[in-house]
Amino acid sequence: MQKIEAIIRTGKVDDVKHALEAIGKVSLTLTDVKGRGQQKGLKRQWRGSEYILDIIPKTKIEVVVPDGDVDAVVTAICKAARTGQIGDGKIFVIPVGKTIRVRTGEEGDAVL
Ligand SMILES: Nc1ncnc2c1ncn2[C@@H]1O[C@H](COP(=O)(O)OP(=O)(O)OP(=O)(O)O)[C@@H](O)[C@H]1O
Ligand SMILES: [Mg+2]
Repeated sequence: MQKIEAIIRTGKVDDVKHALEAIGKVSLTLTDVKGRGQQKGLKRQWRGSEYILDIIPKTKIEVVVPDGDVDAVVTAICKAARTGQIGDGKIFVIPVGKTIRVRTGEEGDAVL
């Protein structure tokens, strides 16, 4: 079991949600986050002077899936979230030790 954590443009969340639904992945967690990547933010102009907006709002999508579904989910997210411009985001794949459905106490891939 793996957790796919994708930090993407907030404006791409609906596209990513639909792309995941299209491959049968409905359950997910969304969080408003702030961060920066390799450009250390954005350069902006205001009243003639330049300043750096170094922490930029993004959205984090978390999806936990069986190992065999990781590639399909990563591909779907990349395709839906990509604009080709800097700041499209990043995906981390993290091993998950255990999953439990609270209502029933079931464990494992079946609860995903
Ligand atoms: N190494 C990292 N560790 C944790 N969070 C990161 C890391 N890299 C990126 N992020 C998060 O992902 C967001 C988007 O990063 P971003 O797309 O700018 O990555 P990048 O490496 O700069 O790629 P690009 O050159 O396409 O902009 C950041 O705002 C930050 O929240
Ligand atoms: Mg960047």
